[in-house]
Amino acid sequence: MGITGIIGNLLCQMRFLLFIAVCLTIVGWASFYMKDSTRYTPKYRTPVENFWKCPTSVKKTEYNSQPPLVEQTSQKEVDLKTCPILSPNLQGVVPLMFQPNLTLADVEKKFPMMSDGHYQPETCRAQQKVAILIPYRNRERHLLYLLDNLLPFLQRQQLDYAIYIINQAGDVTFNRAKLLNIGYLEALKEENWDCFIFHDVDLVPENDYNTYLCDSEPKHLVVGRNATGYRLRYKGYFGGVTAMTRKQIAKVNGYSNHYWGWGGEDDDLYYRVLLGQMTVVRPPAEVARYTMIFHNRDAGNEVNKERVNLLKKASMVWKKDGLNSCTYKLLSIEHEPLYINITVDIGKPHH
Ligand SMILES: *[C@@H]1O[C@H](CO)[C@@H](O)[C@H](O)[C@H]1NC(C)=O
Ligand SMILES: *[C@@H]1O[C@H](CO)[C@@H](O)[C@H](O)[C@H]1NC(C)=O
Repeated sequence: MGITGIIGNLLCQMRFLLFIAVCLTIVGWASFYMKDSTRYTPKYRTPVENFWKCPTSVKKTEYNSQPPLVEQTSQKEVDLKTCPILSPNLQGVVPLMFQPNLTLADVEKKFPMMSDGHYQPETCRAQQKVAILIPYRNRERHLLYLLDNLLPFLQRQQLDYAIYIINQAGDVTFNRAKLLNIGYLEALKEENWDCFIFHDVDLVPENDYNTYLCDSEPKHLVVGRNATGYRLRYKGYFGGVTAMTRKQIAKVNGYSNHYWGWGGEDDDLYYRVLLGQMTVVRPPAEVARYTMIFHNRDAGNEVNKERVNLLKKASMVWKKDGLNSCTYKLLSIEHEPLYINITVDIGKPHH
Protein backbone atom coordinates (compact mmCIF):
# COMPACT_ATOMS: atom_id res chain seq x y z
CA MET A 1 0.00 0.00 0.00
CA GLY A 2 1.40 3.39 -1.05
CA ILE A 3 1.72 6.31 1.26
CA THR A 4 -1.43 7.89 -0.19
CA GLY A 5 -3.29 4.67 0.47
CA ILE A 6 -2.23 4.67 4.11
CA ILE A 7 -3.15 8.32 4.52
CA GLY A 8 -6.48 7.71 2.83
CA ASN A 9 -7.17 4.84 5.17
CA LEU A 10 -6.15 6.93 8.15
CA LEU A 11 -8.39 9.80 7.10
CA CYS A 12 -11.27 7.43 6.72
CA GLN A 13 -10.72 6.06 10.21
CA MET A 14 -10.39 9.54 11.62
CA ARG A 15 -13.63 10.52 9.99
CA PHE A 16 -15.23 7.51 11.64
CA LEU A 17 -13.75 8.48 15.01
CA LEU A 18 -14.96 12.04 14.55
CA PHE A 19 -18.42 10.74 13.74
CA ILE A 20 -18.39 8.62 16.93
CA ALA A 21 -17.17 11.61 18.97
CA VAL A 22 -19.94 13.83 17.61
CA CYS A 23 -22.51 11.16 18.41
CA LEU A 24 -21.18 10.74 21.95
CA THR A 25 -21.30 14.50 22.50
CA ILE A 26 -24.92 14.63 21.37
CA VAL A 27 -25.82 11.61 23.49
CA GLY A 28 -24.00 13.06 26.51
CA TRP A 29 -25.72 16.36 26.07
CA ALA A 30 -29.09 14.79 25.54
CA SER A 31 -28.85 12.49 28.52
CA PHE A 32 -27.69 15.39 30.70
CA TYR A 33 -30.82 17.32 29.82
CA MET A 34 -33.16 14.38 29.73
CA LYS A 35 -31.54 12.36 32.51
CA ASP A 36 -34.36 11.92 34.93
CA SER A 37 -37.16 13.27 32.82
CA THR A 38 -37.81 9.70 31.79
CA ARG A 39 -38.95 9.11 35.35
CA TYR A 40 -42.06 11.20 35.27
CA THR A 41 -43.40 10.68 31.80
CA PRO A 42 -42.80 7.90 29.32
CA LYS A 43 -43.21 10.43 26.49
CA TYR A 44 -39.50 11.17 26.87
CA ARG A 45 -38.33 7.74 25.93
CA THR A 46 -38.69 8.23 22.21
CA PRO A 47 -36.40 11.25 21.78
CA VAL A 48 -33.76 9.70 24.00
CA GLU A 49 -33.81 6.49 22.01
CA ASN A 50 -33.64 8.51 18.82
CA PHE A 51 -30.58 10.28 20.12
CA TRP A 52 -28.77 6.98 20.54
CA LYS A 53 -29.33 6.39 16.87
CA CYS A 54 -28.01 9.86 16.01
CA PRO A 55 -30.60 10.72 13.39
CA THR A 56 -30.82 14.38 14.45
CA SER A 57 -29.26 15.89 11.35
CA VAL A 58 -31.49 13.85 9.07
CA LYS A 59 -34.68 14.76 10.94
CA LYS A 60 -34.22 18.47 10.45
CA THR A 61 -35.36 18.74 6.83
CA GLU A 62 -38.08 16.20 7.35
CA TYR A 63 -39.87 18.36 9.92
CA ASN A 64 -39.64 21.46 7.76
CA SER A 65 -40.72 19.89 4.53
CA GLN A 66 -43.95 18.38 5.80
CA PRO A 67 -46.99 19.83 4.04
CA PRO A 68 -49.66 21.38 6.28
CA LEU A 69 -51.78 18.65 7.77
CA VAL A 70 -55.47 18.64 6.95
CA GLU A 71 -56.67 15.68 9.01
CA GLN A 72 -58.70 16.03 12.18
CA THR A 73 -56.79 16.87 15.33
CA SER A 74 -57.17 13.44 16.89
CA GLN A 75 -55.74 11.71 13.85
CA LYS A 76 -53.00 14.32 13.64
CA GLU A 77 -51.90 13.75 17.24
CA VAL A 78 -51.58 10.02 16.67
CA ASP A 79 -49.55 10.36 13.48
CA LEU A 80 -47.13 13.10 14.46
CA LYS A 81 -43.60 12.34 15.56
CA THR A 82 -42.34 13.76 18.83
CA CYS A 83 -40.62 17.13 18.37
CA PRO A 84 -36.83 17.04 18.72
CA ILE A 85 -35.35 18.33 21.97
CA LEU A 86 -33.80 21.25 20.13
CA SER A 87 -36.16 22.68 17.55
CA PRO A 88 -34.71 23.14 14.04
CA ASN A 89 -36.26 26.63 14.02
CA LEU A 90 -34.07 28.14 16.75
CA GLN A 91 -32.22 31.32 15.86
CA GLY A 92 -30.28 32.13 19.03
CA VAL A 93 -30.33 35.83 19.87
CA VAL A 94 -33.16 37.63 18.10
CA PRO A 95 -33.47 41.43 18.50
CA LEU A 96 -36.33 42.31 20.83
CA MET A 97 -39.06 44.77 19.90
CA PHE A 98 -40.61 47.32 22.21
CA GLN A 99 -42.99 49.42 20.10
CA PRO A 100 -44.74 52.03 22.22
CA ASN A 101 -47.68 52.19 19.78
CA LEU A 102 -48.33 48.41 19.91
CA THR A 103 -51.91 47.35 20.71
CA LEU A 104 -53.37 43.99 21.75
CA ALA A 105 -55.18 43.83 18.39
CA ASP A 106 -51.80 44.15 16.59
CA VAL A 107 -50.35 41.26 18.57
CA GLU A 108 -53.44 39.13 18.01
CA LYS A 109 -53.18 39.76 14.27
CA LYS A 110 -49.56 38.58 14.30
CA PHE A 111 -50.40 35.26 16.00
CA PRO A 112 -53.62 33.93 14.43
CA MET A 113 -52.41 30.37 15.10
CA MET A 114 -53.17 30.83 18.80
CA SER A 115 -56.65 30.37 20.18
CA ASP A 116 -57.98 30.29 23.73
CA GLY A 117 -54.49 31.17 24.92
CA HIS A 118 -53.14 27.92 23.56
CA TYR A 119 -50.69 26.86 20.83
CA GLN A 120 -49.52 23.50 19.49
CA PRO A 121 -46.82 22.96 16.87
CA GLU A 122 -48.20 21.89 13.50
CA THR A 123 -45.57 19.43 12.39
CA CYS A 124 -44.69 17.44 15.50
CA ARG A 125 -45.97 16.43 18.93
CA ALA A 126 -44.32 18.51 21.66
CA GLN A 127 -42.19 16.93 24.38
CA GLN A 128 -44.21 18.42 27.25
CA LYS A 129 -47.39 20.39 27.74
CA VAL A 130 -46.30 23.69 29.24
CA ALA A 131 -48.41 26.22 31.17
CA ILE A 132 -46.84 29.65 31.50
CA LEU A 133 -48.14 31.47 34.57
CA ILE A 134 -47.81 35.25 34.76
CA PRO A 135 -48.83 37.02 37.99
CA TYR A 136 -50.31 40.33 37.02
CA ARG A 137 -51.86 43.63 37.98
CA ASN A 138 -52.07 46.82 35.91
CA ARG A 139 -49.09 46.17 33.66
CA GLU A 140 -50.77 46.28 30.29
CA ARG A 141 -47.83 47.69 28.34
CA HIS A 142 -45.41 45.16 29.84
CA LEU A 143 -47.76 42.34 28.99
CA LEU A 144 -48.00 43.48 25.35
CA TYR A 145 -44.21 43.73 25.06
CA LEU A 146 -43.81 40.33 26.66
CA LEU A 147 -46.40 38.63 24.42
CA ASP A 148 -45.05 40.27 21.28
CA ASN A 149 -41.57 38.84 21.96
CA LEU A 150 -42.37 35.64 23.86
CA LEU A 151 -44.95 34.12 21.49
CA PRO A 152 -42.63 33.87 18.46
CA PHE A 153 -39.89 32.64 20.81
CA LEU A 154 -42.09 29.81 22.12
CA GLN A 155 -43.26 28.90 18.63
CA ARG A 156 -39.70 28.67 17.35
CA GLN A 157 -39.13 26.21 20.21
CA GLN A 158 -42.06 24.08 18.92
CA LEU A 159 -43.75 24.07 22.31
CA ASP A 160 -47.26 23.03 23.18
CA TYR A 161 -48.09 25.87 25.57
CA ALA A 162 -50.76 28.06 27.06
CA ILE A 163 -50.38 31.49 28.65
CA TYR A 164 -52.21 32.11 31.94
CA ILE A 165 -52.44 35.63 33.32
CA ILE A 166 -53.37 35.58 37.00
CA ASN A 167 -54.78 38.96 37.72
CA GLN A 168 -55.06 40.19 41.31
CA ALA A 169 -58.30 42.14 41.75
CA GLY A 170 -58.56 45.13 44.05
CA ASP A 171 -55.71 47.22 45.45
CA VAL A 172 -54.51 45.37 48.54
CA THR A 173 -50.79 44.53 48.59
CA PHE A 174 -49.64 42.34 45.71
CA ASN A 175 -48.94 38.67 46.43
CA ARG A 176 -46.99 37.12 43.54
CA ALA A 177 -46.56 33.72 45.20
CA LYS A 178 -50.22 33.22 45.98
CA LEU A 179 -51.19 34.20 42.42
CA LEU A 180 -48.80 31.54 41.12
CA ASN A 181 -50.33 28.91 43.42
CA ILE A 182 -53.75 29.87 42.08
CA GLY A 183 -52.48 29.71 38.49
CA TYR A 184 -51.22 26.18 39.09
CA LEU A 185 -54.49 25.02 40.68
CA GLU A 186 -56.73 26.62 38.05
CA ALA A 187 -54.61 25.57 35.04
CA LEU A 188 -54.74 21.93 36.18
CA LYS A 189 -58.53 22.09 36.15
CA GLU A 190 -58.32 22.73 32.39
CA GLU A 191 -55.57 20.38 31.32
CA ASN A 192 -53.02 17.94 32.67
CA TRP A 193 -49.95 20.18 32.23
CA ASP A 194 -46.53 18.50 32.55
CA CYS A 195 -44.56 21.64 33.15
CA PHE A 196 -45.17 25.07 34.66
CA ILE A 197 -43.17 28.22 33.99
CA PHE A 198 -43.51 30.94 36.65
CA HIS A 199 -42.89 34.12 34.67
CA ASP A 200 -42.53 37.77 35.68
CA VAL A 201 -44.28 40.10 33.26
CA ASP A 202 -41.32 42.45 32.89
CA LEU A 203 -38.67 39.90 31.84
CA VAL A 204 -38.18 39.14 28.15
CA PRO A 205 -35.91 36.25 27.09
CA GLU A 206 -33.16 37.16 24.62
CA ASN A 207 -31.96 33.77 23.33
CA ASP A 208 -34.28 31.04 22.10
CA TYR A 209 -31.86 28.28 23.13
CA ASN A 210 -33.22 28.99 26.63
CA THR A 211 -35.87 26.29 26.29
CA TYR A 212 -39.13 26.64 28.16
CA LEU A 213 -39.26 22.97 29.10
CA CYS A 214 -38.95 21.37 32.51
CA ASP A 215 -35.99 19.34 33.64
CA SER A 216 -35.30 16.52 36.08
CA GLU A 217 -34.67 19.20 38.74
CA PRO A 218 -36.35 22.58 39.21
CA LYS A 219 -34.89 24.93 36.60
CA HIS A 220 -34.04 28.60 36.97
CA LEU A 221 -33.98 30.34 33.60
CA VAL A 222 -32.70 33.80 34.54
CA VAL A 223 -28.96 33.79 35.09
CA GLY A 224 -28.54 37.36 33.91
CA ARG A 225 -30.57 40.40 33.03
CA ASN A 226 -29.54 43.65 31.41
CA ALA A 227 -30.32 45.54 34.62
CA THR A 228 -27.64 43.63 36.58
CA GLY A 229 -24.91 43.35 33.97
CA TYR A 230 -26.11 39.81 33.12
CA ARG A 231 -24.76 38.35 36.36
CA LEU A 232 -26.63 36.06 38.74
CA ARG A 233 -27.96 38.28 41.54
CA TYR A 234 -26.84 35.87 44.27
CA LYS A 235 -26.06 32.18 44.55
CA GLY A 236 -29.45 30.89 45.72
CA TYR A 237 -31.47 33.26 43.53
CA PHE A 238 -34.55 31.49 42.17
CA GLY A 239 -36.76 34.35 40.98
CA GLY A 240 -37.93 35.94 37.73
CA VAL A 241 -38.54 32.90 35.55
CA THR A 242 -38.49 29.31 36.83
CA ALA A 243 -39.63 25.98 35.39
CA MET A 244 -40.93 23.13 37.54
CA THR A 245 -42.83 19.98 36.68
CA ARG A 246 -46.26 19.34 38.11
CA LYS A 247 -44.72 16.78 40.44
CA GLN A 248 -41.85 19.00 41.59
CA ILE A 249 -44.35 21.72 42.51
CA ALA A 250 -46.63 19.28 44.32
CA LYS A 251 -43.61 17.96 46.24
CA VAL A 252 -42.77 21.39 47.67
CA ASN A 253 -46.44 22.25 48.27
CA GLY A 254 -46.10 25.21 45.87
CA TYR A 255 -45.25 28.63 47.20
CA SER A 256 -45.97 30.07 50.64
CA ASN A 257 -49.15 32.18 50.63
CA HIS A 258 -47.85 34.62 53.23
CA TYR A 259 -45.51 36.86 51.25
CA TRP A 260 -47.34 40.16 50.66
CA GLY A 261 -45.38 42.84 48.80
CA TRP A 262 -42.04 42.60 47.05
CA GLY A 263 -39.39 40.00 47.83
CA GLY A 264 -38.68 36.79 49.72
CA GLU A 265 -41.22 34.43 48.13
CA ASP A 266 -38.66 33.20 45.59
CA ASP A 267 -36.08 32.52 48.32
CA ASP A 268 -38.77 30.65 50.24
CA LEU A 269 -39.44 28.48 47.17
CA TYR A 270 -35.71 27.81 46.90
CA TYR A 271 -35.69 26.59 50.53
CA ARG A 272 -38.64 24.33 49.73
CA VAL A 273 -36.77 22.86 46.78
CA LEU A 274 -33.83 22.05 49.08
CA LEU A 275 -36.15 20.71 51.81
CA GLY A 276 -37.75 18.51 49.13
CA GLN A 277 -34.29 16.98 48.46
CA MET A 278 -33.98 18.62 45.05
CA THR A 279 -31.46 21.00 43.53
CA VAL A 280 -31.70 23.85 41.05
CA VAL A 281 -30.30 23.63 37.52
CA ARG A 282 -29.61 26.54 35.17
CA PRO A 283 -28.86 26.83 31.47
CA PRO A 284 -25.47 28.33 30.51
CA ALA A 285 -25.08 32.02 31.36
CA GLU A 286 -24.73 33.07 27.71
CA VAL A 287 -28.15 31.56 26.98
CA ALA A 288 -30.12 32.43 30.13
CA ARG A 289 -30.20 36.18 29.44
CA TYR A 290 -33.19 38.50 29.84
CA THR A 291 -34.05 42.10 29.16
CA MET A 292 -35.90 43.71 32.02
CA ILE A 293 -38.44 46.30 30.90
CA PHE A 294 -37.83 49.43 32.88
CA HIS A 295 -40.44 50.49 35.45
CA ASN A 296 -40.84 52.20 38.79
CA ARG A 297 -41.91 50.10 41.74
CA ASP A 298 -45.69 49.75 41.57
CA ALA A 299 -47.92 51.15 44.23
CA GLY A 300 -49.25 48.17 46.20
CA ASN A 301 -46.04 46.16 45.85
CA GLU A 302 -43.79 47.75 48.45
CA VAL A 303 -40.82 45.85 49.84
CA ASN A 304 -42.05 43.21 52.27
CA LYS A 305 -40.40 43.97 55.62
CA GLU A 306 -41.62 40.67 57.06
CA ARG A 307 -39.69 38.61 54.55
CA VAL A 308 -36.69 37.80 56.72
CA ASN A 309 -38.90 36.59 59.59
CA LEU A 310 -40.99 34.52 57.22
CA LEU A 311 -37.91 32.91 55.73
CA LYS A 312 -36.72 31.87 59.19
CA LYS A 313 -39.93 29.92 59.66
CA ALA A 314 -39.95 28.38 56.18
CA SER A 315 -38.72 24.94 57.18
CA MET A 316 -41.37 24.65 59.92
CA VAL A 317 -44.40 25.72 57.89
CA TRP A 318 -43.80 24.59 54.30
CA LYS A 319 -45.89 21.43 54.56
CA LYS A 320 -48.98 23.24 55.78
CA ASP A 321 -48.60 26.62 54.05
CA GLY A 322 -48.85 26.37 50.26
CA LEU A 323 -51.03 24.72 47.64
CA ASN A 324 -52.91 22.80 50.34
CA SER A 325 -53.88 25.99 52.19
CA CYS A 326 -54.44 28.38 49.29
CA THR A 327 -57.89 29.98 49.55
CA TYR A 328 -59.24 32.58 47.13
CA LYS A 329 -62.35 33.74 45.37
CA LEU A 330 -62.40 33.15 41.62
CA LEU A 331 -63.99 36.20 39.99
CA SER A 332 -63.69 35.31 36.30
CA ILE A 333 -61.89 33.21 33.70
CA GLU A 334 -61.77 34.66 30.19
CA HIS A 335 -60.34 32.78 27.24
CA GLU A 336 -58.79 35.45 25.04
CA PRO A 337 -57.04 34.45 21.80
CA LEU A 338 -53.54 34.94 23.25
CA TYR A 339 -54.04 34.15 26.94
CA ILE A 340 -56.36 32.88 29.62
CA ASN A 341 -57.20 35.66 32.00
CA ILE A 342 -57.93 34.51 35.55
CA THR A 343 -59.10 37.25 37.90
CA VAL A 344 -59.07 36.48 41.62
CA ASP A 345 -59.77 38.02 44.95
CA ILE A 346 -56.93 36.71 47.12
CA GLY A 347 -57.98 38.35 50.40
CA LYS A 348 -55.58 40.47 52.40
CA PRO A 349 -52.67 40.00 54.80
CA HIS A 350 -53.55 39.33 58.44
CA HIS A 351 -50.97 40.77 60.80
C1 LIG B 1 -45.58 52.00 15.26
O1 LIG B 1 -44.60 52.97 14.97
C2 LIG B 1 -43.57 52.53 14.08
C3 LIG B 1 -42.56 53.63 13.91
O2 LIG B 1 -42.36 54.32 15.11
C4 LIG B 1 -44.19 52.14 12.75
O3 LIG B 1 -43.17 51.64 11.88
C5 LIG B 1 -45.23 51.08 12.96
O4 LIG B 1 -45.88 50.78 11.76
C6 LIG B 1 -46.27 51.54 13.98
N1 LIG B 1 -47.12 50.41 14.27
C7 LIG B 1 -48.42 50.53 14.36
C8 LIG B 1 -49.17 49.29 14.65
O5 LIG B 1 -49.01 51.60 14.22
C1 LIG C 1 -32.74 46.98 29.71
O1 LIG C 1 -33.33 47.03 28.41
C2 LIG C 1 -34.59 47.69 28.37
C3 LIG C 1 -35.14 47.55 26.98
O2 LIG C 1 -34.22 47.92 26.02
C4 LIG C 1 -34.46 49.14 28.80
O3 LIG C 1 -35.74 49.74 28.86
C5 LIG C 1 -33.82 49.19 30.17
O4 LIG C 1 -33.60 50.54 30.54
C6 LIG C 1 -32.51 48.40 30.18
N1 LIG C 1 -31.98 48.44 31.54
C7 LIG C 1 -30.72 48.73 31.80
C8 LIG C 1 -30.35 48.81 33.22
O5 LIG C 1 -29.92 48.93 30.92
